[in-house]
This record gives sequence, C-alpha cells and structure tokens, in this order.
Amino acid sequence: MRSLLFVPGDSERKLEKGFSAGADVVIVDLEDSVARDNKPLARGLAADAIRAAPRGGSSLVYVRVNDLASGLIGDDLEAVVAAAPDGIILPKSQGGADIQHLATKLRVAEIENGLADGGIRIIPIVTETGLGTLSTATYPNCSPRLAGLTWGAEDLSAAVGARAARDENGRYTDVFRYARAVTILAASASEVPAIDTVFVNFRDLDGLRADCLEAERDGFTAKLAIHPAQVPVINEVFTPSAEAVAHANAVVAAFANAGNPGVVAIDGQMYDIPHLKRAERLLARAKAAGVTA
Ligand code: COA
Ligand code: MG
Repeated sequence: MRSLLFVPGDSERKLEKGFSAGADVVIVDLEDSVARDNKPLARGLAADAIRAAPRGGSSLVYVRVNDLASGLIGDDLEAVVAAAPDGIILPKSQGGADIQHLATKLRVAEIENGLADGGIRIIPIVTETGLGTLSTATYPNCSPRLAGLTWGAEDLSAAVGARAARDENGRYTDVFRYARAVTILAASASEVPAIDTVFVNFRDLDGLRADCLEAERDGFTAKLAIHPAQVPVINEVFTPSAEAVAHANAVVAAFANAGNPGVVAIDGQMYDIPHLKRAERLLARAKAAGVTA
C-alpha cells in the first residue's frame, strides 16, 4: 500500500475516474467531501462503486465513513458493508477503544451480510482532535482489524483553533509536527503502516514530491491523495528503489550466510538485528509493489 486516493462519494464522474488512477487504495468518501444533504445519494453510489470495482491483486477499496459521534455512521455502514469493502477509514478516532467499538459494529454487519469474520479492516485518522492526538498510545494491540494509521491536520487546526498548520516557510508548526510524529510512533508500536496525510495543493507536484520524500525518510510508507495526478508521484516515491532492494537483499543474505548471528559486517559497516528487520520490511514492501531485484 503506497497511495490511497480519496474520491468524493457523491460524484459519479470522480468515482469512475478514481478507479483508473493507479492508486493502491481507493477511498470512497462519505464524510467531509460530501454535504449532509448528499449523504444518502453518496451511500448508494459508494455501494455501487465498491461492487463494480476491480478487485484482487493489490488494489483495494475502502470507505471513509462519518465519525462515531456523528449519528451518521450506522446508515453509512448499513449501506456499504453489504458491498464488502476491503476496509473502513475512521475519521476523528479518539483511540484504540474507538477501533474496538467500530470492530463490534463491523462484526454484526458482517454476520448480517454473510461475510467472513474480520474481513473488513480499519484505518483510523488518529490526530483530528486533541484527545485523539493525545491517545495514540492506545492503538497497539487494539484489534486485528487495524491495517494502518493515518493523520490529519485540517480538523486538528479547527479543533485547537490554529490559524494555520504551517509556518511562513511551509514547515508544520509544533502541534502538527507532534501529531505527525506520534502517528509514526503509534504505527510502529502497532506494527502497521504509517500513512502520511494529504498534500492539499494538488497542482504543485514538485511540492508533493518533496513532501513525499520527507515522509518516506521519516518512516511513512504510504500517503493519502486527493487528486489522480498525485498518485503516480506518491507511488514512485514510496516504491523501494532497485538500489534499496539490492542492499536489503545483501543484508538478509549476510545474516543467513553467517548462520543468523546477532551481528554481521558488510563493507566495513556493522549490521545488527534492527537493520535486518528494516531490510525484511523493505523487501516486503518491494514485493507488494511488484519490485524485484
Ligand atoms: N478522484 C477522482 N477523480 C478526480 C478527483 C478525485 N479525487 N479529483 C479530480 N478528479 C477528476 C475530475 O473530475 C476531473 O475529471 P474531468 O475533467 O473528466 O471532469 C479530472 O480529475 C481533473 O480534475 P481537476 O479539474 O484538476 O480538479 P477539480 O477542480 O475537478 O477537483 C478537487 C479538485 C479538489 C475538488 C478534487 O480533486 C477532489 O474532489 N478531491 C477529493 C476531495 C476529497 O475527497 N476530500 C476529502 C479528503 S481530504
Ligand atoms: Mg476532515
């Protein structure tokens, strides 16, 4: 999973386009990009789009539902679970207990629809409120449905009353850097992918690339997209390079050839278990992206 493209659920045209954009995950949105009056229409279109979506391989369909306190999520789930999406994006998540709450709802809906137990995964947006941001340590071991963690700056700005999330140099201010950092840490502790938030200036592909490179450097392995043009850039940056794959293969081989000791030397550099784990993780991502070396 490298790119996750949001598509407003009430737009038939965008739903059609979204599935041919090359995104690893299409997220049909029922939340912020859909006005309240359009929610019923969007639920129907979302269910149709999931049923029509090309499935299998590495392309997945998720639905962003409305949050647990919205009073709308029951109708959202009733409409879309029957179409068997791969997962749900939960906005404004307040912690691991919210994942368990949603997992219970999904379990009931799966039974009602004759679907496999636990088949529908959950990716929460973990920094959209102050409490949610402060509760990110509660995600590890919350549910086997957890498939990744992502974060958001827009709703958090509104929640804390910040006039901007970035300073005059384009750098996130402290609250947002904190939110970004705890997302990486909580994802690591939960052993799920850390997914970077949207880059809203969708015409600025150079800016997007720089944002992706920083994210990849810092530990994110995927990024949310809001426009089809963003998808190729995200896929490219988050696909491990041939050099990285060759190096990871060399690390794994060095440990195996030495009989799996705790530490090996390669070209005068020390490699221990954390390096081995990192190499194995990179190879798994490369395999998922279809890269071999
Ligand atoms: N998914 C699928 N198709 C999309 C798309 C998306 N997210 N964003 C744009 N497109 C389509 C447009 O419909 C257009 O197709 P068309 O010319 O055949 O009609 C084409 O791509 C080019 O779009 P463009 O004119 O460059 O952008 P726009 O002004 O139509 O749309 C946005 C700009 C921001 C409104 C649009 O990209 C969008 O809706 N993004 C998703 C918003 C969202 O889901 N937000 C919630 C998460 S933060
Ligand atoms: Mg939002």
